[in-house]
Amino acid sequence: MKFDTKVVRAGIEPDPTTGAIVPPIYQTATYVLPEVGRDLGFDYTRSANPTREILENNLATIEGGRFGTCFSSGMSAVDSVLKLLKMGDHVVCSDDVYGGVSRHFNNILVNYGLTFTYVDSSNPENVENAITSETKLFWIETPTNPLLKITDLNAISKIAKKHQILFGVDSTFATPVFLRPFEFGADIVMHSTTKYISGHNQVIGGIIITNDEEIHERMKFVQKTIGAVPSPFDCWLTLIGVKTLHLRMERHASNAQAVAEFLESHPQVEKITYPGLKSHPQYGVAKEQMDGFSGMISFELKGGIPAGTTVMNNVKLCSLAESLGAVETMITHPATMTHVDVPAEERHARGLSDGLVRISVGIEDPDDIIDDLKQALEKV
Ligand SMILES: Cc1ncc(COP(=O)(O)O)c(C=O)c1O
Repeated sequence: MKFDTKVVRAGIEPDPTTGAIVPPIYQTATYVLPEVGRDLGFDYTRSANPTREILENNLATIEGGRFGTCFSSGMSAVDSVLKLLKMGDHVVCSDDVYGGVSRHFNNILVNYGLTFTYVDSSNPENVENAITSETKLFWIETPTNPLLKITDLNAISKIAKKHQILFGVDSTFATPVFLRPFEFGADIVMHSTTKYISGHNQVIGGIIITNDEEIHERMKFVQKTIGAVPSPFDCWLTLIGVKTLHLRMERHASNAQAVAEFLESHPQVEKITYPGLKSHPQYGVAKEQMDGFSGMISFELKGGIPAGTTVMNNVKLCSLAESLGAVETMITHPATMTHVDVPAEERHARGLSDGLVRISVGIEDPDDIIDDLKQALEKV
C-alpha cells in the first residue's frame, strides 16, 4: 500500500458482524467471557478496546512503525514514555519543546529523581555535549513549538546509537505526511493526536509508536496500569479525522507557504520563521528530511506587546485560540496569552519576544487568511 492509501485504509476492515465500512464505536467498559480463562481478545476497556485498537494499528502503519499505544492526551503519552526511566536517570531535551512538556518535566518528574538538560538540538553537538553517565533518553521535538527549530534526526540518531541512549521524537508539528522519524533511526515517535492527526479541534489525544517489542510491551503495561486511555468515541472521531490527513496537510502547507511569503515582505514584521522559507536557519535540514513544511508559522511584530495585542484584537477570520493543527486558522500571542504568567526575563531567555505571534494556518482559502492578517496588521 502506498502512503495515501494507508492513511485511508490501514488496519480498517469492514465490521465482521455487519459489514459497516466505518468501524463501530465499541462503547463498553467490559466484555463477557465465554468461559473461565478464555476471552474474545478483550476483557476490560482500560486494557484494550476494539475501536482503540483499530486506531492504534492505523496510526502505527501510517507512521511506518509496528506498534501503537493510544493515550488520553499528548501529555499522557509523553508521561508514559518517561515511565520507561528510573530514579537518577537523565534526559537531554530540545530547549524549545512545548511548554506543557517542560512544565511536566520541571515541576513533576524532577520530584521523582529524574533530571533534565535543555539544549538547542538544532545543533546536534549540543545534544552530545549534554550527555552524562546517567543519560537514558533524548527527547527531541521537531519542528519545535513555538519557534519552529528543526533538528537533524540522522545526526541525533548516530549520537544515540553511539552512547546507547533511547531516542524519542515528538513529531506532532510535522505529522507522518511530512516526516517519518523511524526512517532516521528514532526508537519512539509521539504525537499529540489533538492536533493535525485528528485535525478538526474535536478531541484531546496522544499516541506512542515504536518498532521495539519491549518498549511496546512497556507502553501497553503503562496504558492499562495508569489508565490514561482515550474514550472509544474519541478514538472513532480521530479515525474519521485521519482519513483526510494527507489532503489536509498538503493544503495546510501550501496555505502556510503563501502566508509566510506575505508576512516576509510586510513592513510591520520584524522577522518570520517558517521552515519552508530559505531564510529559516535550518531550511537545508528541513528540506532534506521532510516532505513538506507543515502549517505552523511564527513571526515577530515590530512594536512588541501593544502591536501583538492590536493584531490579536483585530483579526476576524483567524481565531484567537491556543491550540493548533486543525482546519481553522488559529493565532496566538504568547506574551499576552499562553505565556502571560511567565516573567518577561524568562520568556525572553527562551526566545519568546514580546512581539512573537504564532499562526496555525488552516485550510481555508489562502486569500481570506492573508486579507484578514493584512487588515489586522494595518491597525498596528
Ligand atoms: C508539540 C506538542 N507536543 C505535545 C503537546 C501536548 O499535547 P496535548 O495537548 O494533546 O496533551 C502539544 C500541545 O500543544 C504540542 O504542541
